[in-house]
Amino acid sequence: MMNHSQSTGADYNYTIVRQFALTTVLWGIVGMSVGVLIAAQLIWPQLNFDTPWLTYSRLRPLHTNAVIFAFGTSALFATSYYVVQRTCQIRLFAPKLAAFTFWGWQAVIIAAAITLPMGFTQGKEYAELEWPIDIAIAIIWVSYAIVFFGTIAKRTTSHIYVANWFFGAFIITVAVLHIVNSMVVPVSLFKSYSLYSGAVDAMVQWWYGHNAVGFLLTAGFLGMMYYFVPKQAGRPVYSYRLSIVHFWALIALYIWAGPHHLHYTALPDWTQSLGMVMSLILFAPSWGGMINGIMTLSGAWHKLRTDPVLRFLVVSLSFYGMSTFEGPMMAIKTVNALSHYTDWTIGHVHSGALGWVAMVSIGSLYHLIPVLFGHGRMYSMKLVNVHFWLATIGTVLYIVSMWISGVMQGLMWRAVNSDGTLTYSFVESLEASYPFYFVRFIGGCFFLTGMFIMAYNVIKTVKASKDSLPAIAEA
Ligand code: HEM
Ligand code: HEM
Repeated sequence: MMNHSQSTGADYNYTIVRQFALTTVLWGIVGMSVGVLIAAQLIWPQLNFDTPWLTYSRLRPLHTNAVIFAFGTSALFATSYYVVQRTCQIRLFAPKLAAFTFWGWQAVIIAAAITLPMGFTQGKEYAELEWPIDIAIAIIWVSYAIVFFGTIAKRTTSHIYVANWFFGAFIITVAVLHIVNSMVVPVSLFKSYSLYSGAVDAMVQWWYGHNAVGFLLTAGFLGMMYYFVPKQAGRPVYSYRLSIVHFWALIALYIWAGPHHLHYTALPDWTQSLGMVMSLILFAPSWGGMINGIMTLSGAWHKLRTDPVLRFLVVSLSFYGMSTFEGPMMAIKTVNALSHYTDWTIGHVHSGALGWVAMVSIGSLYHLIPVLFGHGRMYSMKLVNVHFWLATIGTVLYIVSMWISGVMQGLMWRAVNSDGTLTYSFVESLEASYPFYFVRFIGGCFFLTGMFIMAYNVIKTVKASKDSLPAIAEA
């Protein structure tokens, strides 16, 4: 059984949680700065300064890798290491291995930040990194699994809290996806060829790509939601039974939906239809989970008026609901015929990425940082509130502008004259998109400014924890 000292915060391994929490903010700023730069390059292409490593084609994968694997995954490392200790009421298993996951992951991020601008890439979206880095990722990820599941195995509680189920599924699935999709034949240190070819290669890639969305950008962050929403609201999860149904339904369905990324391609038609149907069914568990999260606030709605941290968490769930309604719609083949290749996809991505992934991470960090750094509150709650509005307005500007330009592009590309010729040239559709690219750029600046404010607030909070309590601002 657990002794008293094991249940106190002082006895948990918070060092690793602190490290990952702080690097989440740092990598968030780096990844989103690159996002703002590439958004600007789409309006002012001369911003590549005729330098190969500043070209859009090299910076775009740098952005996606930085925000998903440096920012998002650091947030997942921090919260999963924290939640698994708190809910299993035991210190982290294998602390040296845990420290290795931190330093190893930083090394991978640095390697990505150097090799991607240099142009080394496998050319597979979200799996661009070359094979030596892929091997390092696999080793670190298996170490992560050992630390996480080792802690669960040694738990002093009989029950495994549902957040750990989501974190566990995310860790296992990402390992499988990464290892299978990274199978290559190396020809030199920086060049390799996929083991798969043709349509099979495409299918493996989007089985990976979609489940990176499903298990990294969704299941992992749902683990976060199931711990931090009840904690911040001071209420138990609305329905624990629903959370279990949510878990099994979500993981059983996600894995089949990948082909919706390959509609109207050389992939067999039945595979595309299967992907479409599975995506439509996926709507149900997604919304079940969202409703479970939002309804956790029953009896605590009034807290939304005064608590900007809770606002971050609840608004993130609303965006999660929006993107998981939109996704199944876009998976319908006739809708995809319009949306594919357009900015609509980019809008969908960022309603998930900014609205859901980034906002739930930021909310969880605002809960976590004061716990980790001693004195129980952020330096300034006013600044948390300012951050909340910048993030919300920034996300809305981004996604609304992309919806409009996306649907407009789709309609312009398919418009035909009565004699069968195209009504618009491609360049005309590009010109029509510029105003929306500008609005997206402004939205990105809002979101990024919020991240800088967060960094300032976090630094002040950490500093104040080193000094005395009265140093914390009366905000
Ligand atoms: C300041 C915030 C951000 C800005 C300004 C921004 C901007 C951009 C731009 C301009 C693109 C390329 C769009 C295109 O090729 O047409 C892009 C792609 C992408 N971004 Fe962001 N981004 C931001 C934050 C994020 C975050 C936080 C995430 C993830 C957690 C994210 C994930 C992605 C992904 C996955 C893509 C690729 C989409 C696709 O290929 O369909 N972004 N972003
Ligand atoms: C029920 C849930 C969801 C379904 C069925 C779904 C479906 C789709 C569909 C049909 C596309 C367009 C594929 C194409 O035309 O190329 C897409 C793209 C995408 N979705 Fe979702 N989506 C869902 C939720 C989410 C969430 C929560 C995120 C979180 C960030 C997300 C991230 C992405 C990304 C990154 C892409 C772009 C992939 C690429 O082409 O690079 N999706 N999704």
